[in-house]
Amino acid sequence: MEGVIDAVTRDLLTREEGLDWTVTEFVRVVDARLPPRVFYKHCPELRQARVVTPAGIPVHLQLLGSDPQALAANARQALALGATSLDLNFGCPAKTVNRHDGGASLLRDPHRVERAVAAVAGAVEGAIPVTAKIRLGFADKQLALACARAAEDGGARHLVVHARTRNEGYRPPAHWEWIARIRAQLTIPVIANGDIWTLADYWKARSLSGCEDVMLGRAVLADPLLPRRIRHWQRTGEGLPATPWQARAEVLHRYAERQRQHLPERVVVSLLKQWLNIMRGRDAEAARRFATLRRETRLDAFLAGLRAPGDEPAPERREAAPLAC
Ligand SMILES: Cc1cc2nc3c(=O)[nH]c(=O)nc-3n(C[C@H](O)[C@H](O)[C@H](O)COP(=O)(O)O)c2cc1C
Repeated sequence: MEGVIDAVTRDLLTREEGLDWTVTEFVRVVDARLPPRVFYKHCPELRQARVVTPAGIPVHLQLLGSDPQALAANARQALALGATSLDLNFGCPAKTVNRHDGGASLLRDPHRVERAVAAVAGAVEGAIPVTAKIRLGFADKQLALACARAAEDGGARHLVVHARTRNEGYRPPAHWEWIARIRAQLTIPVIANGDIWTLADYWKARSLSGCEDVMLGRAVLADPLLPRRIRHWQRTGEGLPATPWQARAEVLHRYAERQRQHLPERVVVSLLKQWLNIMRGRDAEAARRFATLRRETRLDAFLAGLRAPGDEPAPERREAAPLAC
């Protein structure tokens, strides 16, 4: 996720079990072949023998662009640098990106989706998988099925569907039932994405979409132990206790300790605020901490504020496990 998930975050979030793979922030492809440093910046894991987090979870490199030739040139560059999987972003709703003909703007023309995927798949000649991520459309859902088919026809090995249109932004609800319609038309695996915040959401998204797998976005930041709860439920049918505040604070602490080694303290504080801001929408204690710390600019004081005793009730809150399995 652009501006939010970097290699440090990927490392921290994959230490807990539950995530099968991760994706980099998008590498913006305009017209030229980008220098290696751009790829290394987005994906420092490329410098290793295996493109994985320290816990061994694969990292897929994501490209965002519209020009097939430029995408192909950069796919070759990524392959030469050691990428082991390439994902194409057709979901980004940002105005600047869409104005420059990137991300979700391609969903207005399924042929362009197909050409982009085919160019990248052709460039890597089957050496590594090429995958795609779409929304249900730009302004409306009329082309949702056509765009999904276009990604498959272009050679995508799997398709992630964020179940909203571009114009729906991040507003609930996500239309998971639309993903079932897409699945019915495709032979490649389809992965459901959008608004999966809890174990119950996970179950509902799976049931309505029929997908085996889901992709988690903001929820992994809001609740870093959600993937573990989902995995535990898959194995045992039991719900684990809800993530206590101290566990969330611990992740933020570890993050800060890593980031302060190479970033100025005020930047680390603003990154922490950004993360806490995502947490606060889903956790009352995070919301209280955010309200108290929002004007704090000193890193150590901020971290102390995260750890200070709070109001969170001690009893274990257990998220209800879905009944079906
Ligand atoms: C700040 C932010 C940055 C994002 N950056 C990316 C990105 O670089 N690539 C991508 O495929 N999706 C990106 N997304 C979209 C998420 O991956 C995901 O599809 C979307 O947030 C819906 O899923 P969620 O409700 O689980 O968060 C971003 C979302 C947010 C909020």
